[in-house]
Amino acid sequence: MNDQTLFPAQTEQSFRRLVEAVTDYAIYMLDPEGRILTWNPGIERVKGYSSDDIRGQHFSMFFTPEDRAAGLPAHALATAARVGRFESEGWRLRKDGTRFWALAVVDTIYGERGEVVGFVKITRDMSERRATLEALNESERRFRLLVESVVDYAIFMLDPQGYVTNWNSGAERIKGYRADEIIGQHFSRFYTEEDRRDGLPARALQKALDQGKFESEAWRVRKDGTRFWASVVIDPIRDETGTLIGFAKITRDISERREAQMRLEQTREQLFQAQKMEAIGQLTGGIAHDFNNLLTVILGGADMAERMAGDNERLRRILGNMRHAVKRGETLTKQLLAFSRRQTLKPQALDLHEQIRIIADMLGRSLRGDIEIVTEVAPDVAPIEVDPSELELALLNVGLNARDAMPHGGKLRITARNAEPREDTEADCVAIALADTGIGIPDEVKHRVIEPFFTTKGVGKGTGLGLSQAYGFATQSGGSMKIDSRIGEGTTVTFYLPIAQSLPRQAPRSEPAVAIDGKHQGTILVVEDDPGIAELAVGLLEDAGYEARVVTTAQAAIDELEHTKVDAVFSDIMLQGGMNGAELAHVVRAKFPDVGIVLATGFAEAATSQLAREFPLVSKPYDQTSLVGAVAKAVRRES
Ligand SMILES: Nc1ncnc2c1ncn2[C@@H]1O[C@H](COP(=O)(O)OP(=O)(O)OP(=O)(O)O)[C@@H](O)[C@H]1O
Ligand SMILES: [Mg+2]
Repeated sequence: MNDQTLFPAQTEQSFRRLVEAVTDYAIYMLDPEGRILTWNPGIERVKGYSSDDIRGQHFSMFFTPEDRAAGLPAHALATAARVGRFESEGWRLRKDGTRFWALAVVDTIYGERGEVVGFVKITRDMSERRATLEALNESERRFRLLVESVVDYAIFMLDPQGYVTNWNSGAERIKGYRADEIIGQHFSRFYTEEDRRDGLPARALQKALDQGKFESEAWRVRKDGTRFWASVVIDPIRDETGTLIGFAKITRDISERREAQMRLEQTREQLFQAQKMEAIGQLTGGIAHDFNNLLTVILGGADMAERMAGDNERLRRILGNMRHAVKRGETLTKQLLAFSRRQTLKPQALDLHEQIRIIADMLGRSLRGDIEIVTEVAPDVAPIEVDPSELELALLNVGLNARDAMPHGGKLRITARNAEPREDTEADCVAIALADTGIGIPDEVKHRVIEPFFTTKGVGKGTGLGLSQAYGFATQSGGSMKIDSRIGEGTTVTFYLPIAQSLPRQAPRSEPAVAIDGKHQGTILVVEDDPGIAELAVGLLEDAGYEARVVTTAQAAIDELEHTKVDAVFSDIMLQGGMNGAELAHVVRAKFPDVGIVLATGFAEAATSQLAREFPLVSKPYDQTSLVGAVAKAVRRES
């Protein structure tokens, strides 16, 4: 085959047409010195020259002045002549002087004897592609900057084997390693010893591969060995062909969030406990109220019967036992009422130096000889303002628990000091603590010990009301109670009780007893909706010489006062339907100033302490002495 057959005329024509059809490339031929011989229409599009402009021109006119000065055109031709081809990328000039980024190839045309007869030059405008590439580079650069400057997340990459290949500032901040310390290290060092032993790091990568993602929350280790609670995500990274090139790992320190969550759980649990106590309180308060009414009827009945019994000794003994049983019942309801924070408290300012001594003496008498009692009262301890008999009862309850917790002897330490301000109390407080060296309270029951009737002491031994009373007393007094305990080491119960605003008072004088001799005179209006109690009250009053009438509502009482002569009203505070006893008392005082008032209460409603200052109160269950005593004073208008 010769050249003729290789390039027949027809073929040459087709080539020419082909070349001329190409508009995206400038294709032209140079003579050995670099002058332009032929060209295609692409030259106009790429470089902006028309045929007339370039005929016979030297191709160096397409180069920038700098490249021309550097001799690039000559170098291009010389290289092409020597090796047959020269390829370059660089700025070239259009006719209008603007620059474009060109990809240029120079091919040498050799003559039959191997001499250079010219060059073919093909130039392509790469400006657009270059711009795209630059944009890509720029966005990659920005992205890298972005990732590197994120400080709240550790973002880094692992190679397919799990070795760290890059590191951002978040990773440095969270994990404590600098990039140069950690790149090239295996990522398993971020795991805890246990997790590493369990093969967790490898499993995490495998899971990321199998499921496209690995996510978890767990402990991770910082460079200094401390742990933090981390949220971790691992994603596999693959190239366009799907080959694994590594893993992206994002780790966040969520220790704070976890702590906040745990605190929330705790608060929720406390709230739940508080609600439970509140509910039980409501319930026991209600029961105690009804129970008090029953006791009132029994006690009053026993009272009256006793006086009718004359010299029947046997009957007197039976009635005496009944009275005793009622007293016991009264103690129970008192504790229940204390727990539900509904008892009538008579707070007084108390000097603790004195009070703690009295209580320690009392405990000394109730505890066994193998228990040593130690008291420590800080010299500067402030006086507190609480009901003294309830305080005594509370400390006695806790002291007896200490005794039961130390079956083989031990030590009970009673301390009193001014306390730091606390969140759970209303005022500045004094802390009174009773610490035993007993068996301690198991965690499972710790949150139940103040529940009424919760006891571990077995039938007949404990009623489970001791701590209920203590707790109710402390909270109703505006303070709080805390129990710390360790199995086998002991239990400390601490009362926080409000500091008194006034100085300790002298103990009140006991009142002279009122004679119940059937010689009292006057008309008493009994306002009571419980028929049993009403009958009893009427009985007790008539027995003392009064005339007594009963109405069941406050409204009926007011009607009665308007139409008949009454010396005193004796009303229960709790009344069905409309006005209660306290409201009635206020109306009576305003409209009928000559009528005396006595109120009866089964438990303290919110306003009772205030009421107690305005009107004489008798607490249920009352006996004849207390009822008639109060009524007699009211009739004489002494209150
Ligand atoms: N100091 C203590 N050491 C160990 N356990 C205690 C202590 N104080 C109370 N407890 C536990 O708390 C439970 C409830 O105590 P709480 O005083 O309310 O009732 P109780 O002592 O069982 O009966 P009550 O006091 O009415 O006679 C007790 O049964 C006991 O299990
Ligand atoms: Mg007890």
